[in-house]
Amino acid sequence: MESTDTKVFPGCCHPTRILRPDDRCFSLIGSARGEKEVLHVRLQQACGGRHRCWCGNRIRHREGFHEAGARLALNDFREPALQRSLARLGNPDRVFGQIVDVRRADEVHRFFEGAERALGPVTVAIANAGIYPNTPVLEMTQEEWDRVMETNLRGVFLTCQAAARRMVAKDIPGKIITISSGAYQSGRPGAAHYCASKAGVVLFTKVLALELAKYRINVNCIAPGFIQVEGEVSPLTEEYVSTLTRQIPWGRAGIPQDIANGALFLVSPLAEFMTGDVISINGGTSAGRAYLPLSTPKRT
Ligand SMILES: NC(=O)c1ccc[n+]([C@@H]2O[C@H](COP(=O)([O-])OP(=O)(O)OC[C@H]3O[C@@H](n4cnc5c(N)ncnc54)[C@H](O)[C@@H]3O)[C@@H](O)[C@H]2O)c1
Repeated sequence: MESTDTKVFPGCCHPTRILRPDDRCFSLIGSARGEKEVLHVRLQQACGGRHRCWCGNRIRHREGFHEAGARLALNDFREPALQRSLARLGNPDRVFGQIVDVRRADEVHRFFEGAERALGPVTVAIANAGIYPNTPVLEMTQEEWDRVMETNLRGVFLTCQAAARRMVAKDIPGKIITISSGAYQSGRPGAAHYCASKAGVVLFTKVLALELAKYRINVNCIAPGFIQVEGEVSPLTEEYVSTLTRQIPWGRAGIPQDIANGALFLVSPLAEFMTGDVISINGGTSAGRAYLPLSTPKRT
C-alpha cells in the first residue's frame, strides 16, 4: 500500500529513505560552540526520531530518538572547542572531528576526505563558521576586513564547493545549508565587513542553488537573528545584547535550537522543492519596526 509520505511528496524519494540515519553524514562546519554544538546534537538526535516519525510511529519510537542518530563530521580551528564538542556528542563510531581552518582549501579538502573515509559519503553539509568583530570603517584595518571575508565568505565557498563536488561525483541528491545573518539585509555600525560578507553568502547560495538544481541538490541559507551563544571568538558587550534583545518582537533572544530546527526542516523532504532561498529565524526582527508607537493620534 502506498504510504501517506509518498502521496504527500509525489515523485520524490520516500522520506524514510532520505532520512535513514545510516545513509547520511552530516558535515558541520565551525563546530565548537553555540549554535553548532546544539545543531550537531539536535541533528544527531532528530535524525533517528524523524526517521520513525515519518513512518507515523513517533511515540513508540521515542526511546530510539537518541540512539539512532546520524553520523556527524565536525571541524573547528580551535582544538579545545572541537574536543569539547566531540566529548559532548559521544558515539565516537558515528562522529568524526578534525582541526580545520575553513579559509584553507587544502584543509577543507582533507577534512572531507577524512570524514568520508570514516563515515561514508556526505549527504548534508552546513557551512557555519563565521566571525563577527566590530569596528567602524574609519578605524578598520585591512587585516580585519580580510579576516572576516576569508572566514565568512571564502570559508563558505570552499566548504560548499567541496561538498557539492562530492555529491555530484557520487550522484547524491544532497542538502547544502549556508549560515548567513540578518545582517545580510540590515546594517549596523561597526559591521561593514560582516554585513557585506553575509550579503555575499546569500547571493553565493542562490547562484550555487541554480547551478546544482539539475543534480537535485538543494542549497538554502539560514539567516539567524540574535542568538545567544557564549561567543568566545566574537564576544559581545552586555549593552549590545540587551539593546538588541529588547527590539525582538517575540520578546526573547534566539537560542541555538531555533536554528537547528530550521536546519532540520531544510534537510527534510518537506523542503524538497525549496532551493536558493533564505529562511530568517529571528523572532520577527526582520518583519518591521516593532518599537514604533501607533501613528494615529488618540481621539478625544
Ligand atoms: N550568534 C548570533 O547571534 C548569530 C546571528 C547571526 C548569524 N550568526 C552566524 O552563525 C554562525 C555561528 O556563529 P556563533 O554565534 O555560533 O559563533 P561562535 O563564535 O560561537 O562560533 C563560531 C565558530 O567558528 C569557528 N571558526 C571561526 N573561524 C574559523 C575558521 N577559519 N575555521 C574553522 N572554524 C572557525 C570558531 O572557532 C567558533 O567555534 C556564524 O556564521 C555567525 O555569523 C550568529
